[in-house]
Amino acid sequence: MNIGVIGIGFVGAVTAAVLADQGNSIIALDIDSDKIARFNSGDIPIFEPGLKELILKNKKNLKFTADYKMLRGTEIIFVAVPTPNLNGKINLDYVYRAISSIKSINNDAIIVIKSTVIPGTGSKIKDEFNVNIVSNPEFLREGNAIEDTLHPDRVIIGGEEEYAEKVANVWKFTNSPILITTRENAELIKYASNSFLATKISFINEIANLCEKIPNADVETVAKGMGYDRRIGPLFLKAGIGYGGSCLPKDTEAFIKYAEELGEEIKIIKAARNVNEERIERIIKIMENKIGKIGGLRILQMGISFKENTNDVRESQALKLYYALIKKGANVIVFDPVSKIEGIRYCESIKACLNSIDAIVVATEWPEFKILEDMDLKIPVIDGRRILNPEKFEKYAGIGRHYGD
Ligand code: UGA
Repeated sequence: MNIGVIGIGFVGAVTAAVLADQGNSIIALDIDSDKIARFNSGDIPIFEPGLKELILKNKKNLKFTADYKMLRGTEIIFVAVPTPNLNGKINLDYVYRAISSIKSINNDAIIVIKSTVIPGTGSKIKDEFNVNIVSNPEFLREGNAIEDTLHPDRVIIGGEEEYAEKVANVWKFTNSPILITTRENAELIKYASNSFLATKISFINEIANLCEKIPNADVETVAKGMGYDRRIGPLFLKAGIGYGGSCLPKDTEAFIKYAEELGEEIKIIKAARNVNEERIERIIKIMENKIGKIGGLRILQMGISFKENTNDVRESQALKLYYALIKKGANVIVFDPVSKIEGIRYCESIKACLNSIDAIVVATEWPEFKILEDMDLKIPVIDGRRILNPEKFEKYAGIGRHYGD
């Protein structure tokens, strides 16, 4: 099929690359012409495992452009532009701009909204612009985006059957369950799913708090035991310093605001957000308990990205921890495999800075940080993501593990 993709961020780039690899002809558009130039020259500005290779492999049927006219002749256009929050409320300006630009080139393609939008948005756009709109929310995770797009747990499509079926055909190759429903249900499924994931993480983080007070308790084992129950499931029960990224914090906030406008208060999601906000104080408390006063200490922080396998630091809890430690007067140096942002002091290798630090704190769950286990470390190691084996360290403290002894 001839397919357009508007908005070449994580979702747009991965969607374009995977659909090109499935034999479709893709026009990928972004209004940022510098970004387009980089995609065209093979200098992919997004770090996502496997993405660059997939784009380069498919460059024959994957064209990047900033010119809307190139979308003429496409049968389906995916819209994957950002929907940031403004004062806690979703801002749909980019979505509206994309739709009017599609209208201006007289294309009657089916417009598929991949961007996260509040329920009712698709139908409103349909009425205002007289276009065929289908909602097809995205469930991919950064760092695992290609695999999630190839094998999603489910594909959700909302809209009139005739158009929804056409979009369903695009995703048939995944062999995943496809649910065709109303646009409103599809839009709601996205918010409800992300909010549930945030709640699951905050739930286990509260159990972790409890475990820290109970001798012989460990949240890892508690989560494992809970996860065997198929009604609960083992995933997203990893206790840590909290969730970040461009989705869970933003979507929970916008969902609460949206509910308020309907006269409803979603108390459980509010609580999940409050718990998440307390995570930084919590890890600092664990550090103080184990090491003493933070001010003046030289600390090596492992990780700055919001999770493993990405260079993304948006709403990163690790980044918040870094600033909180600095505020406490600590001397912090960061090691992160890929994320490099201005204003932060980095060390090039862990070994290189070991002689000049007093303690280590793990802030991002990069699997390569397990190398710390083989370093025979004598200094305190504080595990904010529970990725290390406590027995490999002389002085260890971790989230969700009794540290009073
Ligand atoms: C999230 C959802 O998982 C995707 O399904 C969704 O498509 C995406 O948002 C989106 O709306 O676009 P993502 O933000 O990429 O994906 O990352 P997650 O894997 O969900 O991780 C979010 C945060 O939760 C990270 O900071 C991670 O460290 C933390 N986390 C995750 C935990 O603390 N514990 C866990 O058990 C899992």
